[in-house]
Amino acid sequence: MEPIIATQDLKKVFRLGKVQVPALRGVDLIVQEGEFLAVVGPSGCGKSTLLHILGGLTNPTSGHVLVDGNDFITMNDADRTRFRRHKIGFVFQRFNLLPTLTARQNIAIAQHIQGNGFNPHRFDAVADMLGIREKLNHKPFAMSGGEQQRVAIARAVICEPKILLADEPTGNLDTENSQIVLNMLRALNRSFRQTILMITHNPEAAAVADRVVRMRDGRVVSD
Ligand SMILES: Nc1ncnc2c1ncn2[C@@H]1O[C@H](COP(=O)(O)OP(=O)(O)OP(=O)(O)O)[C@@H](O)[C@H]1O
Ligand SMILES: [Mg+2]
Repeated sequence: MEPIIATQDLKKVFRLGKVQVPALRGVDLIVQEGEFLAVVGPSGCGKSTLLHILGGLTNPTSGHVLVDGNDFITMNDADRTRFRRHKIGFVFQRFNLLPTLTARQNIAIAQHIQGNGFNPHRFDAVADMLGIREKLNHKPFAMSGGEQQRVAIARAVICEPKILLADEPTGNLDTENSQIVLNMLRALNRSFRQTILMITHNPEAAAVADRVVRMRDGRVVSD
């Protein structure tokens, strides 16, 4: 079986004027399809940088990365954008819902952007799994943080991405809502075999994952 993510000696150096900031110092990571992986490590160790590279948002400085057998480096911008839309779902700490749209519209717009049109069967399955049916006509201001994050997750997975990338999805939530969101991520992983790579500082979040990858100073130190 071919891994869904494979990186080899991945390095990233940010340049700020004359200063070079090494964010990744050689990351080798293999993720199989259907895995639920947590990435943990101290602030500044390179977790978000790694996630952005895997999602095609940032170019590495050197090394190799294959996502579902594709190499971002060799793609032009248009191909890369298309690939990202079809294969990757993102969830962030700050939900990032569009404030003037309802929950339903926030989710449906992802299907619209992808160009495959509205798929009511998938929509209902996702809305049920995330327990947001009663909130579909609410705008973000009229939802709790936990509900907003569940809508954001629904938006991220509605187009059946190969990979869900989540950067501190429970970072803005209280304990109870964190647990609800984590349980739903796990249910998504189990029911839809959704591959998930989740960055977290939350020990409970790491506990729901199949596998925990620990980073320090731009490297994977334990797996
Ligand atoms: N755009 C950028 N320009 C310059 N340096 C950056 C940039 N983005 C990240 N860095 C630096 O790269 C290193 C890794 O940052 P990264 O955001 O990946 O850490 P992180 O593990 O996600 O931390 P946190 O847990 O605080 O979110 C840090 O030293 C950071 O300051
Ligand atoms: Mg980060």
